[in-house]
Amino acid sequence: MSRYFITTPIYYVKDAPHVGHAYSTVNADALARWHRLVGDDVFFLTGTDEHGQKVARAAEEQGMAPLEWTDQLSPRFAEAWAGLDIANDDFIRTTEPRHRVAVQQFLSRINDNGYIYKDTYRGLYCVPCERYYAADELLPGGFCPDHRIPLEELEEENYFFKLSEFQQPLIDWYAAHPGAVVPEPKRNEALSFIKGGLHDISITRTSIDWGVRVPWDDAHVFYVWYDALINYVTAIGYGQDQERFDEWWPSVHHLIGKEIIRFHCVWWPAMCMAAGIDPPAHVQVHGWLLLGGDKMSNSSVNRISPAELTEEYGVDPVRYHLLRDVPLGSDGEFSAEGISARYNADLANNLGNLLSRVTTVVGSKCDGVGPAPDPDSRLAGVAADVLAETTAAWDAGAPHLALESTWRLIHETNAELETAEPWKAEPGPAVDAVLGSALEVLRLVAVLVVPAMPSTAREIWRRIGLSGAPADQRLPAAGVWGGYPGGLAVEKGAPLFPRRKD
Ligand code: MSP
Repeated sequence: MSRYFITTPIYYVKDAPHVGHAYSTVNADALARWHRLVGDDVFFLTGTDEHGQKVARAAEEQGMAPLEWTDQLSPRFAEAWAGLDIANDDFIRTTEPRHRVAVQQFLSRINDNGYIYKDTYRGLYCVPCERYYAADELLPGGFCPDHRIPLEELEEENYFFKLSEFQQPLIDWYAAHPGAVVPEPKRNEALSFIKGGLHDISITRTSIDWGVRVPWDDAHVFYVWYDALINYVTAIGYGQDQERFDEWWPSVHHLIGKEIIRFHCVWWPAMCMAAGIDPPAHVQVHGWLLLGGDKMSNSSVNRISPAELTEEYGVDPVRYHLLRDVPLGSDGEFSAEGISARYNADLANNLGNLLSRVTTVVGSKCDGVGPAPDPDSRLAGVAADVLAETTAAWDAGAPHLALESTWRLIHETNAELETAEPWKAEPGPAVDAVLGSALEVLRLVAVLVVPAMPSTAREIWRRIGLSGAPADQRLPAAGVWGGYPGGLAVEKGAPLFPRRKD
């Protein structure tokens, strides 16, 4: 059995999550669910990033102690993910003792290995980015290129990490691992940053104390990114359960947004090398969900909460839209028109229509008992192609293509029914063959949509009379034509996706 360890970034608890955060989490969840379907041993990790100046200030603005604030905010992420049917295996908070222990061990190891030294730092710091900028990276007037705000001058005694010593090792590592960062342009972005020259970086702060203490110097706390990245190894037992750690590391899949490439594709692999472990095997970079052309963010004008959307459209349609309409790697504009159009076209008119017409006609022509599929149906060949394409697409990290392919099978089955018109024919073997094959397609579709729409999958499964759960099926075996046994009670229910009028 292979292992599949997938992570999302851990989110800052500055505010409750928005749909931009949900985009990463839903994609990771769908990938995790796909890998469970193919029988992999999956570990899916998400969580919250709770230290640093940004979070400390958010707490201060609310008149709260930082921990009081993060204790309030972190559960809102967990709740939002439960509301989107996210099945993570662990939820890490960087304020947990297990994480403090791992950070202190990881960084002590780097220190023992000689890659940390003390110096005075003076620089321009952007609190929303939680990083220093060099003067030549700034916009005219000294503004942050991301947030377009003036930066704060900080001067303090810091510990530094010798990132500069890892330029050549990183170049060599990327040469030996060509598929480590996808898509390719993002790999090139990371590499050109490395080749442009790496400076040592400051990794501790004395001006704030909201962080993990440096074990060998109590006056310092670790810089938030240096603490946060380590969450990925904390959760699999770094420094606490070596056997478990060795089982899961380094073959991890980090799913991240494009603005944090430098941290994950330059700093993090260098930190791993310095600590004497392998760098993460895969980083998949995705684009941004945009609202009115801008990145959806925490500012009140362009944030939408996941709950607002699921109340309006339902959980599975929101998941489906995020996966189907914004290919991993590209930016995508979010709009009510876009989600409604996708809902009507794919869910109401295609999948919902197929389920309702098949269950209705089985009711009227077969006394509600589903017939067995036709082994020679033309749809058997389509289904085999679709299974192969869908598998290849998930493997390539392209959920939108996986779903597009699955919908081809739905579409072809609807077309086949329109040609055969079993609703007009006399009951008998010909009608049974057509309906049995359509039921078999519904069985296959229920399995293939598990990653995107878990409860829809269960409902289709139940209505066509199958017992057990589609998520418990195992591909490729469950994808072989002919699995629907026939002779099952088929239920005609309310439309799964009533057509929207907007
Ligand atoms: N705390 C750091 C990550 C540390 S990981 C060791 C951080 N947090 S964040 O709250 O700002 O979330 C960043 C991630 O949220 C992005 O990388 C991306 O995965 C997701 N997104 C936030 N806004 C987004 C969009 N508008 N669109 C798509 N994803 C977005 O950075």
